[in-house]
Amino acid sequence: MTKPNMSVEIAGVKWNNPVTTASGTFGFGKEYAEYFDLGELGAVCLKSLSAVPRLGNPSPRIAETNYGILNSVGLQNPGAEYFLENELEEIRKYDTKIIANICGSTVEDYIAVTKILQDKVDMLELNISCPNVKEGGMAFGTNKDMVYDITSRVKEAAKVPLIVKLSPNVTDIAEIAASAESGGADALSLINTLLGMRIDIKTRRPILKNNMGGLSGPAVKPVAVRMVYQVRQAVKLPIIGMGGISTSDDAIEFMMAGANAVAVGTAGFVDPYAWVNVKNGIEQFLIENNISDVNDIVGTVELN
Ligand code: FUM
Repeated sequence: MTKPNMSVEIAGVKWNNPVTTASGTFGFGKEYAEYFDLGELGAVCLKSLSAVPRLGNPSPRIAETNYGILNSVGLQNPGAEYFLENELEEIRKYDTKIIANICGSTVEDYIAVTKILQDKVDMLELNISCPNVKEGGMAFGTNKDMVYDITSRVKEAAKVPLIVKLSPNVTDIAEIAASAESGGADALSLINTLLGMRIDIKTRRPILKNNMGGLSGPAVKPVAVRMVYQVRQAVKLPIIGMGGISTSDDAIEFMMAGANAVAVGTAGFVDPYAWVNVKNGIEQFLIENNISDVNDIVGTVELN
């Protein structure tokens, strides 16, 4: 069989393959460029950026769990202007699409960072799902009216396609997804982390200084697959699925549930080649199953 088509189109942007990085697990890409050619990935989604630098939360802000990690980083970043001046040029060398994940404490903050970054990157990812900050983040993403409001206002300011990243910390993900779609989102990504907690039984104190944090890694995968499936039934937008993807089989599950592309995150902390291995494994699966186009597996799950 000739090589299958691996390219996908997300909101009019052509990716060479359906694999990207989950924001916050890949920095601005430089560290990983030492391991592999970033052009191996369809897109790279970078650490959240705000209009002004943020220090993030106090340490400790990482706690290991049996099947994943909790983080309470708190959207630490050097600010969008710093990124443009010091980081962007390096990533631009690679044949991959660049997604800037944007954050803020108020709607005005989100609009400000959108205006700084918008025509410098290929896509924007609206982070209304970070569980680690008191203002902004998940506070916007768990209320359907606020999701509509912030999506429509950022969309008005944006000149490149807008992906809205959804929080799993809701009772009805389909309702939230539909609000983002009505607000003008061009694509959705899900899931961000699940709010969790660990306690040191010797000190009787939470391990994270922030007390709670976002859980990612293999533990969240079944929740994420279920949510991607539910969102696929509710909206027509392209979906970037993520949450605990470590292998190509995991990624294929997400695509069968309805994701048009997938993001690998926490797995990269264990194996810096995880992203490339997932991409190669998807291609191998297509060859072995005589499937000529990766898009043909999207949404093909058949319920019992
Ligand atoms: O705390 C953090 O920086 C995490 C961000 C996120 O989950 O989006």
